[in-house]
Amino acid sequence: MSQGTTLARRFPAGFLFGTATAAYQIEGGHDADGKGRSIWDTFCERPGAISTGETGEIACDHYHRWREDVGLMRELGLGAYRFSISWPRVLPSGTGAQNEKGLAFYDRLVDELLANGIRPFVTLYHWDLPQALQDRGGWTAPAVVDAFGAYADLVARRLGDRVTDWMTLNEPEVVAYAGHYVGVHAPGIRDFATAVTVSHHLLLAHRAAADAIRSARPAARVGIALNLSPCEPATDSPEDVAAATRADGYLNRWFLDPLDGRGYPKDMVALYAPYFDRARELEGYHGHLDFLGVNYYTRRLTKAGEGPLGLDRVERAGAERTAIGWEVHPTSFRALLVRVHRDYAPREVFVTENGAAYDDVVVDDRVDDQARVSFLWRHFVAAAEAIGDGVPLRGYFIWTLMDNFEWAHGTSKRFGVVHTDYRTQRRRIKASGHRYRELIAAHLAARAAAAAT
Ligand code: FCB
Repeated sequence: MSQGTTLARRFPAGFLFGTATAAYQIEGGHDADGKGRSIWDTFCERPGAISTGETGEIACDHYHRWREDVGLMRELGLGAYRFSISWPRVLPSGTGAQNEKGLAFYDRLVDELLANGIRPFVTLYHWDLPQALQDRGGWTAPAVVDAFGAYADLVARRLGDRVTDWMTLNEPEVVAYAGHYVGVHAPGIRDFATAVTVSHHLLLAHRAAADAIRSARPAARVGIALNLSPCEPATDSPEDVAAATRADGYLNRWFLDPLDGRGYPKDMVALYAPYFDRARELEGYHGHLDFLGVNYYTRRLTKAGEGPLGLDRVERAGAERTAIGWEVHPTSFRALLVRVHRDYAPREVFVTENGAAYDDVVVDDRVDDQARVSFLWRHFVAAAEAIGDGVPLRGYFIWTLMDNFEWAHGTSKRFGVVHTDYRTQRRRIKASGHRYRELIAAHLAARAAAAAT
């Protein structure tokens, strides 16, 4: 029995293997067919914002090559595909008049996926806020909450006859803090109090969108994709242990607790008191998530330190790292899934992102990305172990289908299981993509054989 078969058997019947993407990172077509500007179109124009000086104006040109890209997915044998809708493509001003041509693009994409037996998982917000809304305060303005609800209603009504699985937001922590505190993402604001308020508006927006989707489409399944990581202390000193608890509160509990009906964590409400006093607005809310999406890349090590959170991140010397510098730590992945299950018991869990950047090269027309194969396989094993531990994991989306515009890194960081040649837009399935195809095929074969006996 091949190694692939042994691993494949560890995933239950019906387990979905897929890939994930985001609109701004792949679509291009930045001003095609009436699309409005997004905050990423604006941010990319800021000198120095993108390390390579690039923009996502063309990216993978998926807006024009979607059919070929769904063909690649079929070749890989994907059971599901997670993608995001560009809000300014369907509502160029963020609110008000809809753009029929933009909506029609997603109609075609969804139809093509379904025709190829691929289940669509749709994210409503993967970071490309309409610039028109940013001009009115963006995520810092309370009005964004209703705007997001109305946008969710529009998309759910349009696609909800064919799409069942929805994620409201991708990584609200990154939206809030990378965008409004560290300033390395759009809109590039640097203010802690603003970032905390944004995190709150994002959770209120999740609530508005979840309500809108459910009332438009009672059969819909609503989730959210959170970036979660185990937060461990760098040493066992009481100061570092307390810092790790704060890091966990900041990254994990601040989002998980209110979605689980507990309101914001009390220790964090106290810590944020100088910046934020609206915790009451989420009291009594329970998200009743149909599934929790977990985006996992690496763990976090922390020690007591500076800043509003009183901590600094520590990087372990000599640790194995990917090309973006993130530590490879699959055992933390298993620990995270088990912890989320133990502390929050979500009905279902999907790994909505996991993957790795490596400096891939094309040699003799091939990309032999064995480092990525090794990364992915160790994380698949960790996920299978978590299933053995009782975690109701139902699917796994690799980040990402094809190399794409990696935000502030431009196209310099490649995460795809398919290689993108940006000069020609030629796609080449990498070794990792071929191995993934074999795993998916082995899983289907093992399940069919089990069902026949
Ligand atoms: C995640 C993002 C995704 C991609 C990966 C590498 O934080 O959701 O768009 O950038 O990181």
